[in-house]
Amino acid sequence: MKLTGNTVLVTGGASGIGLAIAERFLNAGSTVIICGRRADKLNEAKEKHPALHTIVCDVAQETDRIALLERATAEFPQLNVLVNNAGIQRRVNIIEEQEPWSQTQQEIAINLEAPIHLCNLFVPHLRQQASAAIINVTSGLAFTPAVFAPVYCATKAALHSFTLSLRYLLRNTPVEVVEIVPPAVNTDLGGAGLHTFGAPLNEFADSVMQRIDQGELEVGFGTSEVRRKASREENDAFFQEMNSRWA
Ligand SMILES: NC(=O)c1ccc[n+]([C@@H]2O[C@H](COP(=O)([O-])OP(=O)(O)OC[C@H]3O[C@@H](n4cnc5c(N)ncnc54)[C@H](OP(=O)(O)O)[C@@H]3O)[C@@H](O)[C@H]2O)c1
Repeated sequence: MKLTGNTVLVTGGASGIGLAIAERFLNAGSTVIICGRRADKLNEAKEKHPALHTIVCDVAQETDRIALLERATAEFPQLNVLVNNAGIQRRVNIIEEQEPWSQTQQEIAINLEAPIHLCNLFVPHLRQQASAAIINVTSGLAFTPAVFAPVYCATKAALHSFTLSLRYLLRNTPVEVVEIVPPAVNTDLGGAGLHTFGAPLNEFADSVMQRIDQGELEVGFGTSEVRRKASREENDAFFQEMNSRWA
């Protein structure tokens, strides 16, 4: 897909990877709407990029997702790209901690339920456009889980699976289905300071968005590019090596 001339909705677009994606679409000449829960973060992004449009929305809530479809398509009838980027990551030891189930549910609702439902809601509108795309943001951890965040990894593996099905189902329509598979990237994911070891945000975003512009459908960076192409044996070996550092 080309980055220019689109009308793009980015969930979780006020910070981190979502904002970096939004900026690249904006710079290529697309109209961009970002959504998130925190109005102050959305306003901060808009101060930096006055051309951005913002909508407060909690994608974990079914009613908010339906309202987002109604508002975004009414105000931007040419909307032709949905980026499912919003996500959270919780580090939790599920064999030793009894956390309130609502916290697990929240992670599943944001990372998995929301993108599935938003795809379902937006597909009829996207199919009416001359060209359209859905971009799902998964993770290298979809391919090789890290045991410190087992629920997170499961949601990302499931979203990868869903993305493959969706791409096949939409193969004869104007809707392309793209997957961004980030490695660890230096953002505030999981809390400030937890991902400072990750790839520099702009380097990562420049690389993946350029490859998407060139027509690639599944795009990683650094270690996640290796992981998504690895054999089962290679990923099993990496799983042992990575997780022996944690548990
Ligand atoms: N950074 C990494 O190392 C890494 C690696 C692999 C994959 N990813 C994926 O990349 C995506 C972006 O993460 P990031 O690293 O950029 O982290 P981030 O800076 O924490 O950004 C996450 C964004 O999602 C929004 N969000 C969270 N819950 C939401 C909800 N219920 N409704 C609407 N928006 C919500 C947040 O805004 P509000 O809090 O204001 O709602 C925030 O703007 C996530 O899907 C993440 O899993 C990141």
